[in-house]
Amino acid sequence: MEACSVVFDPHRPVSSADAVACRGVGKIWAAGTERAHEALAGIDLDVAAGEFVVLLGPSGCGKSTLLYLIAGLEAPTSGEICFFGDPVERPSPDRSLIFQETSLFPWLSVGQNVAFGLSIRGDPPEARRAAAREALARVGLAAAIDKRPDELSGGMRQRVAVARALAMRPKLLLMDEPFAALDVQTRAKMQDFLLDVSQASGASVLFVTHSIDEAVALADRVVVFTARPGRIKEIVPVPMPRPRDPFAPDCVKLRRLLTEALRSEVDRAFAEQEALAATG
Ligand SMILES: Nc1ncnc2c1ncn2[C@@H]1O[C@H](COP(=O)(O)OP(=O)(O)OP(=O)(O)O)[C@@H](O)[C@H]1O
Ligand SMILES: [Mg+2]
Repeated sequence: MEACSVVFDPHRPVSSADAVACRGVGKIWAAGTERAHEALAGIDLDVAAGEFVVLLGPSGCGKSTLLYLIAGLEAPTSGEICFFGDPVERPSPDRSLIFQETSLFPWLSVGQNVAFGLSIRGDPPEARRAAAREALARVGLAAAIDKRPDELSGGMRQRVAVARALAMRPKLLLMDEPFAALDVQTRAKMQDFLLDVSQASGASVLFVTHSIDEAVALADRVVVFTARPGRIKEIVPVPMPRPRDPFAPDCVKLRRLLTEALRSEVDRAFAEQEALAATG
């Protein structure tokens, strides 16, 4: 593998064949107020249908913000985002977001949580239960369908959140560090499972992680962000076939490249956060 980064042409026309197209996307939280805070700037990025793209970057560089914008939960303050050629203006069941923190409804059973989006959509109860059972089976939790979230471990709850997203059969999965809380073995199983799901369903995945190993295992391309305001520093294609041997020379080389690309940005982000803390 030649570990080279690719420069994106921001003038590339938006194609309706691409799952996501971001052009000049920026986000200033609380824009126009004295609390205004620039999280993202000038993001140009396309995600092809069926592509698995991993976002890597220092804490606070705007990765979650970008997922919220693509999900349609927040509007960018500059630029435009399209989903299969149409501007993103609001959330859609075709774009499922799995949050960084697990967010199950504690008063609903696991099965009802998984079927929640389907009930909003008006699917009949039997179809909802069947879809919930199937999605839970995929994450190895079929037996937990009638339990309450507080009866599950943190890792199990996160798997339920994944099942809830899958039950909607979305065209795009937006995943915000979904496996960060899992033990190493469960995490590896969930990664395999996610690759199977994305390959079988043809869904595109935009996946945030702090783990370079996870990025190397999963990605078709890795997008490395700068420190805040997050800009794209590098886009690194990962052409190796899967499953990938993490100790294969190409994977080791890629890990080194990503570690180098991240290091200076993480240092910058820390320096900025310390400076902010010092000024109160
Ligand atoms: N709702 C909000 N209101 C105001 N500022 C916000 C909001 N959400 C995030 N921010 C700020 O925007 C910046 C980017 O935050 P974001 O959560 O997108 O970062 P991140 O890259 O996901 O970080 P991490 O890796 O720690 O999850 C941060 O400085 C954060 O404080
Ligand atoms: Mg985040």
